[in-house]
Amino acid sequence: MIGTDLLGIEDLERADIERILDTAEHMREVGRRVVKKVPTLRGRTIVNLFFESSTRTRASFEIAGKRLSADVINFSPSSSSLKKSESILDTARTLDAMDPDAVVVRHSVAGVPKQIADVLAAPVINAGDGAHEHPTQALLDLLTVKLEKGRIDGLTVTIVGDILHSRVARSNIYAFGKMGAEVRIAAPPPMIPAAVETLGVKVFTSLREAIEGVDVVMALRIQSERLAGCYLPSVREYSSTFGIDREKLKYAKEDVIVMHPGPVNRGVELSHDLTDHRPSVILDQVRNGVAIRMAVLYLLSGRRQEDAQRIDLGSGEGR
Ligand code: CP
Repeated sequence: MIGTDLLGIEDLERADIERILDTAEHMREVGRRVVKKVPTLRGRTIVNLFFESSTRTRASFEIAGKRLSADVINFSPSSSSLKKSESILDTARTLDAMDPDAVVVRHSVAGVPKQIADVLAAPVINAGDGAHEHPTQALLDLLTVKLEKGRIDGLTVTIVGDILHSRVARSNIYAFGKMGAEVRIAAPPPMIPAAVETLGVKVFTSLREAIEGVDVVMALRIQSERLAGCYLPSVREYSSTFGIDREKLKYAKEDVIVMHPGPVNRGVELSHDLTDHRPSVILDQVRNGVAIRMAVLYLLSGRRQEDAQRIDLGSGEGR
């Protein structure tokens, strides 16, 4: 069962994932209305606690909360008492004392959302922690594939790029595996984690072999400024070997889709043309991210209230 926090896909059962996807499919309809708002979380408070930069995840959690009528607070580390040496855990405890109904955490260090969850009463949602997990990204990727293909079970998905440093890759390996897809990874050898086969993936160092006959190609962002020279001879070489363009896509299925979590280094992971046009579905991923985050906020921040109602009903008298 989905717990009180969402820290990683590794912790979820297939039934949890299906429940989130089903809920998100209902939430998508709200985004198509003229008035994009429902009263579901009226009176609830969501805190966005982002210690690392973000465009898609932070904006979509904020929009998701607001579409559900929650009050959304965006905490800004650079203007907070963190600047006066207050610790992250004390900051989190301080915010928790204001009784939020969910806290969304992104941090560059793996495990910080879990540390915060351990000291908070409010449900904690991991919005990406170091190279560990990015569960809502994987969920929105699953939803995008499900909507495109009508199923996930039995598909073949190839994840291309810096698997070693990628929380998106890790969450997607768990997510697609749990949902019955075959997962392949393709990368230069220094970017392949040791013993990654134990996660049930097939490992390739040839892109052509990795995308032969696949349904989905997912390219990952290369942190070119950090990795060139250490993990890659050069970004240009990476692009010519592992960058996806229409020529290389000919080896995949005719109806292949191309995904990327963003932000894209145009001309590195994907050709310019593919970044903007089908079969890439990058902006659909972004759009589906709002629905997934609405579903997660609804399922987790609604929980505290459900518990409270159960207690209220049980106590009965004097109310
Ligand atoms: N995909 C993703 O996490 O993007 P942001 O860093 O912009 O949130």
